[in-house]
Amino acid sequence: MLRRVIIDTDTAGDDTIAILTALHHFKVEGVTITGGNVDFDQEVENALYTIQVANPKEYVPVYKGYEGPIIASGDEHHTTVEEVHGRDGMGDAFFEKATQRPETGHAVDFIIEKVKANPGEISLLAIAPLTNIAMAIKKDPTIVKAIPHIYIMGGINNSLGNITPAAEYNFYVDPEAARLVLHSGIPITMVGWDMCTEYSIMDDDDHKDIEQLSTAGSDFFIKINKVVKDFNKKVHRLNGTTHPDTLLVAIAANEELMTASTHYYVDIETKGELTRGHNIVDINNRSGKKPNVRVCEAVNREGFKKVLMNVLNSIS
Ligand code: RIB
Ligand code: CA
Repeated sequence: MLRRVIIDTDTAGDDTIAILTALHHFKVEGVTITGGNVDFDQEVENALYTIQVANPKEYVPVYKGYEGPIIASGDEHHTTVEEVHGRDGMGDAFFEKATQRPETGHAVDFIIEKVKANPGEISLLAIAPLTNIAMAIKKDPTIVKAIPHIYIMGGINNSLGNITPAAEYNFYVDPEAARLVLHSGIPITMVGWDMCTEYSIMDDDDHKDIEQLSTAGSDFFIKINKVVKDFNKKVHRLNGTTHPDTLLVAIAANEELMTASTHYYVDIETKGELTRGHNIVDINNRSGKKPNVRVCEAVNREGFKKVLMNVLNSIS
């Protein structure tokens, strides 16, 4: 019996391959959309199209959630990152619309109803700003007891941010939501941007290996990653494409890929002019506070690449 999950996503770029990976390894009860990477309605279309590419045996519903953070960072809307993922969030492939349409209900209500009807059964895969998950906890705090684990792609472990020097994008867009989830009491595994840059980068040789699979999955991967490869070289001085969300889902599917992790106290700055969205990982427990997050500290990189190749090879 496959483990059951709900995946919350701001579908663009790496989110799409993470969704394919989730559909390969889990029973995905639903995909919920949060405002993040690109225009919200585009994110919805990207999620629907990605499900169509995977062509799963069972219907996978898509629910629209919050289009923006609980508190915007002063502008009328949050920072989107088309420069990373392309104007459409899909490497400027501008795919046609999928046949499937989103459900009419709200993502937050779907999360609450689903986890309460299946207590202890459904973990959350969080690969976006944490707005939907935070608002679900806010609306019905009793769900904290029903959710066995949240796997979060977000934050940094005493390392460089990506959207600012101090902050990783998912935590930066909605730090109030991140704080609420980090202190919810739900067991959390956090895979930060540092793990992504250390273990998930696919360089030109890796891309050649993937291209040689010659499947619909590998073709989709190459198209999706057209823009981020140049962005990474220019901005982050990284030699390849980055896959934070897929790394998160691969670890959730097979925790042995996470070769080192420690429970630490993790908290987040919501006020700082330069540091809003920065999270601390209190590795020396200077705060004296009880650890609340299992932080990923090392990954079997070859094992991750194998999972990625497997998923892409399985989509014909
Ligand atoms: O910082 C990386 C995260 O921000 C990933 O989830 C990426 O998809 C963007 O949402
Ligand atoms: Ca994402």
